Amino acid sequence: MTTDAELEASARAAFAAAFDGEPEGVWAAPGRVNVIGEHTDYNEGFVLPVALGQTTRAAVARRTDGRVALASVQHPGQRVELDLADLSPGTPDGWAGYPAGVVAELRERVPGGVSVLVDGDVPAGMGLSSSAALSCSVALALRDLAAPQLTTADLVDVARAAENDFVGAPTGILDQSASLLCTAGHALFLDTRDRSSEQVPLDLAAAGLVLLVVDTGTTHSHATGGYGDRRRECERAAERLDVPALRDVPDVAALAPLDDGTGEGSVLLRRARHVVTEDARVLEVVRLLRDTGDPRAVGPVLTAGHASLRDDFQISTVELDTCVAAALEAGAEGARMVGGGFGGSAIVLVEDASVDRVTEVITRRFREEGYSAPRTSLAVPSPGARRLS
Ligand code: GLA
Repeated sequence: MTTDAELEASARAAFAAAFDGEPEGVWAAPGRVNVIGEHTDYNEGFVLPVALGQTTRAAVARRTDGRVALASVQHPGQRVELDLADLSPGTPDGWAGYPAGVVAELRERVPGGVSVLVDGDVPAGMGLSSSAALSCSVALALRDLAAPQLTTADLVDVARAAENDFVGAPTGILDQSASLLCTAGHALFLDTRDRSSEQVPLDLAAAGLVLLVVDTGTTHSHATGGYGDRRRECERAAERLDVPALRDVPDVAALAPLDDGTGEGSVLLRRARHVVTEDARVLEVVRLLRDTGDPRAVGPVLTAGHASLRDDFQISTVELDTCVAAALEAGAEGARMVGGGFGGSAIVLVEDASVDRVTEVITRRFREEGYSAPRTSLAVPSPGARRLS
């Protein structure tokens, strides 16, 4: 395992190579997996993410010429440089849109401009929030260098605004909150409405369990995918039910008025039913972790979350469904797809002693179905964003 000191040294060296100077510091922000609470954040509900060990590092130095220079170890040859005044939604685009969006949000704090080198190992497009890791590492850097009065909640808003307004990905606050607020050994129980949160101990190793992440190799793009459609459907359902957000629907029975006999009514009912039952699942998982302290107990709730995303929210894929089914057949405690949907990764809660067998069964099933081989890693609840130097 690479240490923070090694990551920092390598980001410093990459900065020096890209910009011919020294950064003022290096910051790291992790990707995340959400244990439960998918598509609840923009409905003002509950989420329960953990931070991953994989991070994005940002090596940053302020400038004096009013320019913004962005370079990425993962995108060599795609260095971007422009006047601070020329930053505008979509310019620059691609990976550089995320750090540029954060700089644009905070441009008054860095009037002389900034040089940013990013380096990271959160896989992109896999539902593990590489984009939030990128924007949060830069947001934290600019806070420490130039805007010390900003709170962590402000940084969540800055990073989210960068993604929503600059990149054009209509996300909620799950990913940015997870990256900035998670702590090692815990899941973050967050109420996305009032932003209150609790660190819930999640000691998988003590229970003899691991959380396996299976990357199906199918990618998604929130900016162009069905994510925005689902958001709009949820908004329409809340409007029809005359509640501020689906968070305010007390139970599934209260969704009945949505089903007005039209095709649209039954679609809205399904979408809303996912959100209402998913909020309940978050509360249930938190209760199980608090009361029993045994993460094994949450397995069936995760699996129920998958069925809801597949059948009611309809954002799963054949690869994700195959992965979950194969994992359960092979004896996993629970499994579900994670993230925005339409591809990406699944998580599998499994006995440490069975992880190799479960991985083998999933891999074999993928081969039989003609899908490309899945990649697996373990999610260990890790620290949130931090300054490395
Ligand atoms: C993406 C978004 C989040 C959240 C999840 C689904 O990761 O960025 O805000 O909506 O999808 O839970």
